Amino acid sequence: MLELKNVSKSFGDNTVLDDVDLQVREGETTVILGPSGSGKSTLLRVMDLLEVPESGSLRINEDGVEFGSTLSDSRIRSIRKHSAMVFQGYNLFPNQSVLKNVSLPPVLNGKLSAAEAESRARELLGKVGLGDRLNEYPDNLSGGQQQRVAIARVLAIAPDYLLFDEPTSALDPELEAEVIKVLVDLAEEKRSLVVVTHNIQFAKKVADRVLFLDNGSIGFDGSPDEFFASSNERIRRYLTTFEVA
Ligand SMILES: Nc1ncnc2c1ncn2[C@@H]1O[C@H](COP(=O)(O)OP(=O)(O)OP(=O)(O)O)[C@@H](O)[C@H]1O
Ligand SMILES: [Mg+2]
Repeated sequence: MLELKNVSKSFGDNTVLDDVDLQVREGETTVILGPSGSGKSTLLRVMDLLEVPESGSLRINEDGVEFGSTLSDSRIRSIRKHSAMVFQGYNLFPNQSVLKNVSLPPVLNGKLSAAEAESRARELLGKVGLGDRLNEYPDNLSGGQQQRVAIARVLAIAPDYLLFDEPTSALDPELEAEVIKVLVDLAEEKRSLVVVTHNIQFAKKVADRVLFLDNGSIGFDGSPDEFFASSNERIRRYLTTFEVA
């Protein structure tokens, strides 16, 4: 389980996360929804310690940290080994082949031998539908293909929790569908996923659980069925923006 307790984070006098408590359960897809600026990316970045809150605590499996004092690099590394983030821009190594992009990280962090990592990378690239592009360079791939390489790369380091911040928002609808298919497969495998998205149809399809973030607080935490049927005024207003669009 990944758990945040009493987490508060401000930028200057802008309180972005206001005493947030939440638990992400293993084997579930937790989808985080909410208006632009409500703190979704910040919340996800706290889970990977890319942002460090002023107060509260984070626990992932057997590892935990209390915020409020300086965190040592070893503490940060220890927490980070449990999770991995896939960003909107893919951050691939431009001078390495697709195969190397996926096989290098677990070798660099000492998790696998070069031979093991290569065979795992081939398998994962096959799984995301890129088994025939192993020797290509990232620049020669479409955005959707690059994002699928980025997902394979994160899977190669086998984190307990996979964190996705709007993984399809930079893509055209057709390319978005390819990436969504990969994410739906991961959700069906009961991986532990946390997904921030503005794609409501996708959210409906993959969510085991929805968190609605509103102005730095969790305004809803429950099943997707309850969320999409909610009569809460704030949630209705949020959902209406998509129905009209
Ligand atoms: N590094 C930063 N420095 C200052 N302010 C920041 C920083 N990162 C985020 N913020 C502010 O925190 C608030 C929440 O931002 P965040 O990126 O978490 O929102 P979001 O819900 O992910 O929005 P979007 O849906 O547009 O991606 C915003 O007001 C933003 O301006
Ligand atoms: Mg964001």
